[in-house]
Amino acid sequence: MSPEDFEAAARFVKDRSGLVLTRDKTYLLENRLMPVVRELRLKSASELIGAAIAGDMTLQTAVIDAMMAKDTAFFRDWKPFVHFRTVVLPNIRVSRGMKGRFRILSAGVSTGQEAHSVAMTIRDVLPSFPGWEIEVVGIDIAASAIASATKGVYSQFDVQRGLPIRTLLHYFTKQDDAWILNAGVRDMVKLQTWNLLDDLFPLGRFNAIFCRNVLVYLDLKTKLDVLQKLARLLVDDGVLYLGTNETVTGVSSNFRAVDPELGIYAVHRADRPSSLSLAAKVDI
Ligand SMILES: C[S@@+](CC[C@H](N)C(=O)[O-])C[C@H]1O[C@@H](n2cnc3c(N)ncnc32)[C@H](O)[C@@H]1O
Repeated sequence: MSPEDFEAAARFVKDRSGLVLTRDKTYLLENRLMPVVRELRLKSASELIGAAIAGDMTLQTAVIDAMMAKDTAFFRDWKPFVHFRTVVLPNIRVSRGMKGRFRILSAGVSTGQEAHSVAMTIRDVLPSFPGWEIEVVGIDIAASAIASATKGVYSQFDVQRGLPIRTLLHYFTKQDDAWILNAGVRDMVKLQTWNLLDDLFPLGRFNAIFCRNVLVYLDLKTKLDVLQKLARLLVDDGVLYLGTNETVTGVSSNFRAVDPELGIYAVHRADRPSSLSLAAKVDI
């Protein structure tokens, strides 16, 4: 691919998704686009990019989908999910009284493992929330990932990465070589193709947002824009989980660190005491 074609492709991908591709990523661009080139019987990645930029919507979607890094795992990094179970869920129950509603967003949900891990965590303690309205929403720009997440069918390799055997046997059914997530968990999760660069307000408000290992691919300005939008989606005592290598420190004043090593942040509203965050450990 010529340097000019690479520049045009990188600009297109960044404008549409926020993903930054530096010149040393030419091989990555070509590697990810070649399966699409072959499937559509085009001549080259340059031809594919050219047609996408010229306005072919199907190709635009295919390019963005192919360029996304979708690696994920159940209960990835583990400890943030322990925090969610042992701190956030009890705090929600205490602060909202006997009955209520809470919603969790997995932004950049990929093939569903993150949202399904959240849903399984909630189901484990569901008897503590009788009559509550609970919803987990998973969004991703990659339609192929959302289609796969919606099926809730995982390979042996997928379930070996992060799922304790007890959880696997409790929430999945084995069928041939695949593990099928039980309907009870799947039904708690609403999955949609959605771009984080678009308006997020139609998604509604959330008590906690998992946006893990997504912002790391964005430039500083796009990261700031997305963080601002996520802060507005969160309720005043809401929690943001980032990837363990990501931070908002020095990027956004809308959040304050609770446990930055685990990527846990609380919404920061100037007029509100930090102790009231759902992320704060309290004696209950
Ligand atoms: C590396 S995966 C992380 C998956 C999961 N959050 C985790 O931590 O395991 C990043 C995901 O973010 C999605 N993504 C990247 N840019 C996005 C955007 N602008 N809007 C929505 N999703 C995006 C990608 O498609 C990909 O599925």
